[in-house]
Amino acid sequence: MNTTPDMDTRVLDHPLASALLTQMRDQSTDNPAFRSALRQLTQMLVYEALRDAPVVEFDVTTPVAVTTGTRLKSPPLLVPVLRAGLGMVEKASSLIPQSRMGFVGIARDEKTHQPVPYMESLPDDLAGYPVYVLDPMLATGGSMVHTIELLVQRGADDVTCICVVAAPEGVQALASSGLPVRLVAASIDEGLNENAYIVPGLGDAGDRQFGPR
Ligand code: PRP
Ligand code: URA
Repeated sequence: MNTTPDMDTRVLDHPLASALLTQMRDQSTDNPAFRSALRQLTQMLVYEALRDAPVVEFDVTTPVAVTTGTRLKSPPLLVPVLRAGLGMVEKASSLIPQSRMGFVGIARDEKTHQPVPYMESLPDDLAGYPVYVLDPMLATGGSMVHTIELLVQRGADDVTCICVVAAPEGVQALASSGLPVRLVAASIDEGLNENAYIVPGLGDAGDRQFGPR
């Protein structure tokens, strides 16, 4: 019996998203084309993440009449997980120009697959503030759970993980963590291989953007 609690999980279902993901999966896609596809897919993921975001209404004057306009009630804090999440920053912040930004640096240990944090730069108080964590890959979930714990320690209670590819193992880790989180992704893949890489996945999302470390 699966006793994992439910988690709000949305998977993009759109032919353009699927084509961009295919480009990212293809091992013959070079670094610039990979970064370009990631930027475009991020735009769709953030768009989907904001679908039910609360808005405030205000009067706006068109050249013809006064009407009711809207804007986001609470633009989220954007938190890219370095390195790979950096490639998602530009599109996310241009879609939500009022957003603030924080940073977390984590490198997964290649042998143990455990997250090794090396940097954090986050606002002290995140109470009542929606947070969007940007990381293309959710594999074991270790890096994401660590990141969300940092956010919750600062009072965050509304965290959205925006990922390109997620493994079921990572989804399960988030869902069973008890953390206040939802997930928006372009694909939930088959699983992890013996090196904890996502299958079929797209390889190492950091290396494919920036070259090997
Ligand atoms: C990748 C990816 C995630 C993490 C996912 O980063 O961007 O942060 O692995 O794996 P997990 O779910 O098993 O923790 P990586 O550690 O390779 O660093 P990089 O972004 O600097 O390349
Ligand atoms: N990190 C990546 O970049 N890719 C994977 O498949 C797993 C972890």
